[in-house]
Amino acid sequence: HGFIRFIAKRGVKINDPQAKLIADPATREDPKPVYKQIRDNGTLFDSRVVSLTVDHRVVFDLLRSDDFRTVIQGANLPAPLRAIEKRTRTSALHPLAPPSLLSVEPPSHTRYRKVVSSVFTVRAVNQMRDRLQVTADQLLDELVASGVGTVDIVDAYCAKLPVAVISDILGVPPEDRDRILKFGELAAPSLDFGLTWTQFRLVEKGLQGFDEWLADHIEFLRANPGDNLMSELIASSDDGVFLDDRELRATAGLVLAAGFETTVNLLGSGINLLINNPDQLARLFEDPSLWSNAVDEMLRLESPVQMTARVAKHPVEVEGHSLATGRTVVCVLAGANRDPKVFDDPDTFDVGRPNANKHLSFSGGRHFCLGAALARAESEVGLRTLFERFPDLSSAGAGVKRDTRVLRGFLTLPVHLGEPA
Ligand code: HEM
Repeated sequence: HGFIRFIAKRGVKINDPQAKLIADPATREDPKPVYKQIRDNGTLFDSRVVSLTVDHRVVFDLLRSDDFRTVIQGANLPAPLRAIEKRTRTSALHPLAPPSLLSVEPPSHTRYRKVVSSVFTVRAVNQMRDRLQVTADQLLDELVASGVGTVDIVDAYCAKLPVAVISDILGVPPEDRDRILKFGELAAPSLDFGLTWTQFRLVEKGLQGFDEWLADHIEFLRANPGDNLMSELIASSDDGVFLDDRELRATAGLVLAAGFETTVNLLGSGINLLINNPDQLARLFEDPSLWSNAVDEMLRLESPVQMTARVAKHPVEVEGHSLATGRTVVCVLAGANRDPKVFDDPDTFDVGRPNANKHLSFSGGRHFCLGAALARAESEVGLRTLFERFPDLSSAGAGVKRDTRVLRGFLTLPVHLGEPA
């Protein structure tokens, strides 16, 4: 087990700036000093294990470069360690292992993405806005009816809205929603590396539970097809046209998990930003047309997915550095979002920032977030409705940040709701 524990902790290296970046809780609290340290070393920093960049231009180009592929879980480990990791892993689908969209390249990627992309176009999402509004209002009606004055807004609202929306799209019945939220909570660190053994086991449990639930859900919909994306996916895969069974579970599972694991963080961070910056909230009350830009500014400043990575497919020159085949470059999206060469006064929250939408929080290139339009719409409708219904909403404590390194957001955020409007 000592060996396995070593693997599970493989990301952590003393005196490695990369390890400091991802592992230090102080960095999660305030990333500015670490970003500055990396920036002062140039546009690409060669750490011991990986290279990394917080430079907007370099991140932007890397995500679109054909010299790089996405990371596949475990693929960068030396062969003997990889074999052990394989044996210790369950058969559950991992978000960073094929056939997950996140870890495949064309032609598979093109095929999987084509199957789901039509549902998430800007046009399709705009047609969902009415439903979104109804769902947000329902959740807030329940809050008003419950008569509570102080709530954990993450639990009461931020987690419930996205899970309701994506569940509708994928035909998940209301009684299953709390369960999949729990699996999601357990599995969220699956995107991180440098996990402790205990964390590693919890992640496995979450992935396994989610996978089993998903298999049952697919079986149920096979027998009882409905008017939802999942039923369509099942029908097309049963025709043998698009996806085999594993591909179907991986694709639907990723869309579902990405649909409720990320937007919850944007909503929580957004609420936190607004209650701590009343001048910016006042601007939104004065001019509601700013909401859409405000959501981009929140995405920029609190990037719910802090980083991603790409791996060199062959020897390649980047910013004057020679990278060997297999070299990983960590693209710190949150760092690129605070690049002072692109954003004036980058650490300031400004809902009217003219180029707020130049953030890289949804990544770029062929893996650009499939749910970007949905996430934007959910956040805009969700936040605007919340503050319109509870204009005096205020902080009731600091809240607890998530412990994950790739995902950033609040686990809990207590607020006083104030009088409903
Ligand atoms: C991919 C961020 C919401 C579905 C991604 C990636 C990022 C991201 C950074 C690409 C990772 C990479 O390039 O390595 C976010 C953020 C969200 C959000 C910040 C909310 C604020 C959603 C929602 C859905 C979704 C609501 C579901 C409808 C996906 C899928 C992919 C993806 C399926 C994989 C795309 C591919 O590899 O081709 N997301 N996402 N995301 N996202 Fe999102």
